[in-house]
Amino acid sequence: MPAQLLQGKPIAEAIKSEVAAEVMGLHFRPGLAVVRVGEDPASAVYVGSKVRTTEELGMYSEHIHMQPDITQAELLNIVRELNARNDIDGILVQLPLPGHINDREILEAIDPAKDVDGFHPMNVGRLSQGLESLVPCTPAGVIEILKRSNIEIAGRHAVVIGRSNIVGKPMAMLLLQENATVTICHSRTRDLPAITRQADILIAAIGRAGFVRGEHIGENAAVVDVGINNVSDKDFAAELFSEEDLPKRLAAIEKRGFTLVGDVNPKEAMERAGSFTPVPGGVGLLTVAMLMKNTVAAAVMRRGA
Ligand code: GUN
Repeated sequence: MPAQLLQGKPIAEAIKSEVAAEVMGLHFRPGLAVVRVGEDPASAVYVGSKVRTTEELGMYSEHIHMQPDITQAELLNIVRELNARNDIDGILVQLPLPGHINDREILEAIDPAKDVDGFHPMNVGRLSQGLESLVPCTPAGVIEILKRSNIEIAGRHAVVIGRSNIVGKPMAMLLLQENATVTICHSRTRDLPAITRQADILIAAIGRAGFVRGEHIGENAAVVDVGINNVSDKDFAAELFSEEDLPKRLAAIEKRGFTLVGDVNPKEAMERAGSFTPVPGGVGLLTVAMLMKNTVAAAVMRRGA
């Protein structure tokens, strides 16, 4: 039987409706500032979606777009000014930043109470100790997909491939908090398929198109694909997509020069997994919804309901 597709859209819509209802009940308007530097095309799309959604849900949104030659000191000043403003509850500095900028120093300058990305060491530490914190949006979205799709987490073996600070590490922490038995795999892991095949829940966050193949997936596993990669090679696309999906993927390559592919080979996952999040249309849609949820949570924590 082919895997059940875990669609992100209805779950993201449900979360956004919940957030909009919560915003309506507040006596103030939560505000989110998104800082973008330069002209990275993917960042422009992501930030556009964050700004639009913030406004749709009745919150105040500010998009601060700076030239790529901004200095470290200037960017730090922008963050400090946002920290000091009472109308701004959440601050997100879109990554990647230009090479001359020290990301770490910028992210650590954000007031932890406004750190809606959950990247500040204070929030990372609080998460690892099981304390209330602002949690990175993408892994938080994965937990929502699992829970709202009635996929049990407690007591099951969750294997995370990837150990980035944005996804892999916080993902493992959140799964642990949900009482899963957690294994983290990475580029130095020996005999990866032997480990990932044991997963009841397999999370792919590696950043390589179609890396997870059938041999990595245990029968009936829930496979969550966090990757977003561009594929422009038509022969490679033919290895990734079923006969049914391939024509529209080839048409996308023809038209835009690429098609979006996750870290999992979708054709092979559909044959082996119990359930599977598609790319696009899976986890990606949850990330913005969780950012909205974090913004309201930050506002309520800082100002009181
Ligand atoms: N770039 C890609 N993903 C993210 C994210 O979750 N937060 C920020 N700030 N930048 C990103």
